[in-house]
Amino acid sequence: MSGRDLYDRAVAVAERAYAPYSKYRVGAAVRTRDGSVFEGVNVENAAYPLGVCAEKSALVRAVSEGYGPGQIEAIAITASPCGGCRQWLHEFGIDEVIFRDAEGEIVTRSVQQLLPESWDLPE
Ligand code: THU
Repeated sequence: MSGRDLYDRAVAVAERAYAPYSKYRVGAAVRTRDGSVFEGVNVENAAYPLGVCAEKSALVRAVSEGYGPGQIEAIAITASPCGGCRQWLHEFGIDEVIFRDAEGEIVTRSVQQLLPESWDLPE
């Protein structure tokens, strides 16, 4: 599946977001190296900080199905990923991050571009 098709999957799934507080629906779609796709949406909560971003819910689904760091090739998101999600993308070593940028253009970036000088737990 191309990056554009993955992005279209993210757009389609965003309709299922649970975002009654912000009204801002976000969709994400993850593609694994073996070609599986997992989708996720943002899920908010009346206790606002407990909400979950779309990127995290898509990654949680992939991990629940047995995929881990190095096995996830790409993620498409209908929004520019937030700071916390960038750390999640770094954790999984994702090659391609596809999203709609502030100018409305669909762009592909590396995690290194999105999160330079990233942090890892010292061994
Ligand atoms: N949101 C995401 O799902 N992903 C991001 O990277 C940016 C923010 C969600 C969280 C919250 O439900 C809503 O957008 C407004 O902040």
